[in-house]
Amino acid sequence: MKTRITRRTFRKILESIQAGRKRYVKISSAHLSGVSYLNIGDAGLEFLEDLSRSGLRFKVRTTINPGCVDFDSAVECDSEVVEKQGRIVKSLKNMGAVESLTCTPYLFDNPLRRGQKIAWAESSAVLYANSIIGASTNKEGSLTALASAILGYTSQSGIHLRSGGNPGVLFEYKGGLENELDYGLLGYVMGLKAGAEAPYLRLKKPVASIPYYKQLLAGFGTSGAAPIVWIENLTPGFSRVRKPGRKIVLDRSDLEKERVTLSEETPPPHDVKLVFVTGCPHMSLDEIEDFNEALRSINRLSVETWVFTSRSAYSEALRKGLLQGLLGKGVRVFKDSCIMYCSLKKSKPYVMTNSVKAAYYLRGSFRLKTILKPLKEFIEEYGVKQHGFKGQGY
Ligand code: F3S
Repeated sequence: MKTRITRRTFRKILESIQAGRKRYVKISSAHLSGVSYLNIGDAGLEFLEDLSRSGLRFKVRTTINPGCVDFDSAVECDSEVVEKQGRIVKSLKNMGAVESLTCTPYLFDNPLRRGQKIAWAESSAVLYANSIIGASTNKEGSLTALASAILGYTSQSGIHLRSGGNPGVLFEYKGGLENELDYGLLGYVMGLKAGAEAPYLRLKKPVASIPYYKQLLAGFGTSGAAPIVWIENLTPGFSRVRKPGRKIVLDRSDLEKERVTLSEETPPPHDVKLVFVTGCPHMSLDEIEDFNEALRSINRLSVETWVFTSRSAYSEALRKGLLQGLLGKGVRVFKDSCIMYCSLKKSKPYVMTNSVKAAYYLRGSFRLKTILKPLKEFIEEYGVKQHGFKGQGY
């Protein structure tokens, strides 16, 4: 006998994660993870199809994380994977989800304002929403975010409590941070050391680059448990929170120690393909613009280069003529998909990336060899100039 899925089923999910008295808080937006067929498989697909047939619908604006294929250029992916990924998206759309397929919903598809209470899954988006925008969400799991999207509320716990999310450990970094990779590594190291505590970060020479902080927060979300990093002079309300007594001072050696665990020291053998992957989290329109600009000085790249972005940023980039510039340099631009792309799992290349989060998951889940490299350095090493060749080109 088949059990019916009802709103009560989802109320029970939210009840089960709260000890003692159950309290709830109304939300105005949800963001769902657990959308990729490569992660949820046939069981997840069937569950979402049953749910869609049950008649339940989302109560608040609900966006969805990327899947594992770009529906417009999924030629290298198994047709079965493409078809099943399509059915997952269709089920969620039937329930009222915006077909956003991105891990940066805050940029176009699910814009936020300070103080907004939301229920988002996808750690990098959660950290960005709380730490940069000043919204309020716990690090929801796939099921609790789904439950909240259907019910229109979430459990009043963690960051939704009066002192929830207050910082418990102060981090200081001694030395310089040169690029987005350094910021990603710093976030990752902070996550390893902070435990369940929310960190307060004080930098000697902070930069004004949001993409760098995007990498810091994605790195932190990969290894840490807290839903927020209080960044001095950046996070809304940072001046009002009490500064923690516990202090950890980090330096370059802490970053280097973790870099070598996520990055091969030697290039791939000649018979193994190398792909450079960027856009984890998805590149914003500004980042695409900057990348395009950075490629102006070269003729093409000697290594296959993949950029991941959202559908909305892709359309805007197309309208502004940016994609044509990238394609002209041999760069492929993917939308709808995560860097955990279907064909990478099959073809097993070495993957070079400027994202700590990408390296962590490609190594852990796809068992690929990864090399960490900042974008600028990659272009300098692998850019082919008009007159002659610069770089190793292995
Ligand atoms: Fe986004 Fe996938 Fe990276 S969801 S943050 S591109 S691992």
